[in-house]
Amino acid sequence: MTTYSVPPTVAPIDQILPDEPLLLMGAGPVPVQSKVAAANSMVINHLGDAMSQVVSQVKTLARYVFQTQSPYVFGVSGPGSAAMEMAITNLVWSGRRVLSIKNGYFSSRFEEMASRVGGLTTVLEAPENHYIDADAVETALKEAKLANQPFDVITIVQGETSNTVYNCQLPEIAALAKKYNVLSIVDAVCTLSTMPLFMDEWGIDAVVTGGQKGLSSVPGVSLIAFSELAWDVIQKREAPMAHWCFDTRLAYEFWHNKGYHYTAPVSGLLALHEALRLICEETLPVRFERHSRCSNALQHAVESMGLDLFVKPESRLNSVIGICLPESINTKELLALMSDRYLVEISGSFGGHIVRIGQMGEQCRSHHLLRVLHALGMSLQSLGADIDVPSGMAELEKQLLISRP
Ligand SMILES: Cc1ncc(COP(=O)(O)O)c(C=O)c1O
Repeated sequence: MTTYSVPPTVAPIDQILPDEPLLLMGAGPVPVQSKVAAANSMVINHLGDAMSQVVSQVKTLARYVFQTQSPYVFGVSGPGSAAMEMAITNLVWSGRRVLSIKNGYFSSRFEEMASRVGGLTTVLEAPENHYIDADAVETALKEAKLANQPFDVITIVQGETSNTVYNCQLPEIAALAKKYNVLSIVDAVCTLSTMPLFMDEWGIDAVVTGGQKGLSSVPGVSLIAFSELAWDVIQKREAPMAHWCFDTRLAYEFWHNKGYHYTAPVSGLLALHEALRLICEETLPVRFERHSRCSNALQHAVESMGLDLFVKPESRLNSVIGICLPESINTKELLALMSDRYLVEISGSFGGHIVRIGQMGEQCRSHHLLRVLHALGMSLQSLGADIDVPSGMAELEKQLLISRP
């Protein structure tokens, strides 16, 4: 006779979550607009006419956000890392040479993914907490060519969320990739729609992003765009594709032929549709301006409180800000206090005595900035740090009055 194990009794979700939602001001996920949340609450047929219109519109909207005319835009079921894996799986295979630029934790993921599918990887490491210099990239490309071992693919992150470094020379590096006949893959997970990226104008071959950061959608559905050139390489490759789910030639069925690949994450796609639509409604120039003004305001205000920013201005990301903590402060205690007393969450670090505040999508609103700065300052003060909260708040108000985000 079959015996069943005892069914578990656990707390329902409303007993796990706080009565009032925490304000998500960390490195993602970020708050979403109500239209995005409402769309995420629906389930529809993944192969019906409504879904097919949604898919078509997601591609149209995403093309604007990527600034590309390329037809080869796809949604990806999974986190930003899944979109990274899709780019790598399709463009790298056994024996392909990959130059992987490393600024920190996330950019080194590309290298790991590339070597797992058989790529011959070379890591070019940027100076600590600094952008990679285009000259260093050109030297690596030139040397490999002279040695008769040219690279096939170069990987780079636009914004390294882990240490808040911005690769500001990305346009020059993408141009170098073209010059040396190398396909470029760019991780824009934290930057897309928060800082300028022009896929076609800069000549990038694959751009990946997640839903839960700049786009202000939900986690779990991501986007990828391939250039015509990259698509041509994928069509002509003879090497087997390591991952069935990430094979773009199969994904093409769903994304471009109204056919079946696997059951798409319909709710997340509906949410992504709304998030992209709201970005297009706002327009990219207005959105970039809002992000830059909000981020600058917060940066000035943090400094006015008496805290240092982690990265020098020339390498500093707008989308996520790294803030150095006084020696005496225990990061875990600080984060717990901010969350318990002020219902605000920010992120800890991947190394270095810092915390990170996100400035992506819906995080970049003046009421959120005032609340997170206040929570940070008051919590630090409670933990004994010498922090000038009024001066920081006054600076933020002054900056926001100037900029009116
Ligand atoms: C720059 C960057 N790349 C990749 C990722 C990975 O995204 P996900 O956690 O959605 O897989 C992140 C996540 O924080 C990121 O910030």
